[in-house]
Amino acid sequence: MDIALIGFGSVGKGVVQVFSKKQNQLRQKYDLSFSFKGIFTSRGAFLDSNGLDLQSILNIKDLTAHSSWKNGLSFMESIDDLDVDLVIEVTPTNIEHGEPGKSHIISSIKKGCDVVTANKGPLVVAFDELAELCRRGGCILRYEGSVGGGLPVFNLVRETLQGNTIHSLRGILNGTSNFILTQMTYERTSFESALKTAQELGYAEADPAADVEGTDAASKTVILANGLFGMNKGIDDVYIQGITKVTPEAIELAGNENFLIKHIASIEDGQIEVAPRLIQKTSPLAVDGTLNVVSLQTDLAKEITIIGQGAGGEETASAILSDVVDIHLTRKAK
Ligand code: HSE
Repeated sequence: MDIALIGFGSVGKGVVQVFSKKQNQLRQKYDLSFSFKGIFTSRGAFLDSNGLDLQSILNIKDLTAHSSWKNGLSFMESIDDLDVDLVIEVTPTNIEHGEPGKSHIISSIKKGCDVVTANKGPLVVAFDELAELCRRGGCILRYEGSVGGGLPVFNLVRETLQGNTIHSLRGILNGTSNFILTQMTYERTSFESALKTAQELGYAEADPAADVEGTDAASKTVILANGLFGMNKGIDDVYIQGITKVTPEAIELAGNENFLIKHIASIEDGQIEVAPRLIQKTSPLAVDGTLNVVSLQTDLAKEITIIGQGAGGEETASAILSDVVDIHLTRKAK
């Protein structure tokens, strides 16, 4: 498998680390050999048609000093000359226009590459367009890492719930807002103070609007709606309410009745929403801190709930790795 990686932030670096670490295991267990021919960062690229030495890229402090470094070179400039059959796209997300990820993914599919992405933007703005391009081109697009970091939601349904009908889904899809509500619940802090702690601990972004106003969770819910339920939804179809107006008093009142206030994403009867909701303290959705949770109501298996880390370089790389292995096994089975 010849791979190009676009994006070298915490997820991109996690991908390089995980592939480097798991190289022998992938060969022995799945007969999967790979080489990274290009790694594209925001400042330039590492290129080697014989395959990059991943460890040397991880070790180097000044990227521009690496022997494979090409200053300022972008993926779009290089794509025609790249000899790769799989592209991993993990550039920063933009849920308004999906760029630059959307163009990266479209160009890769048009070139005949399979694509693995954790980038929400392109999936939110162009899910059907990308799926249709893949159908026409006979390519595979996988996006397990785009929702819930390391949580295996799409693969769980595709690989182990075959034959089930998924009636509905509820979950917590944003670790930052879950952390803030947890602090407000157990430390009795204000929203502002909990947000400050989340920023100090590096959970929330410097601009945490997408986390606390619900658009990040809404994007993930759109991807779940389209990917699991076959809907054709966009962000405007989601009823979104953030957590900025949740007060310590409301949390305390809820607690007195054995309820928690959680930021719940739901897909039910064709409706999708993300909003603060009361849940029982004994609910499977009652997970704390930065944890994410997804609970599916299915006809045969009934309720299935998975809990785990919804963000993080290595956790998201785990989802990306599983997608790459799945594509390899699918190709082998053809
Ligand atoms: N900022 C997100 C969260 C992680 O707090 O869950 C990336 O989707």
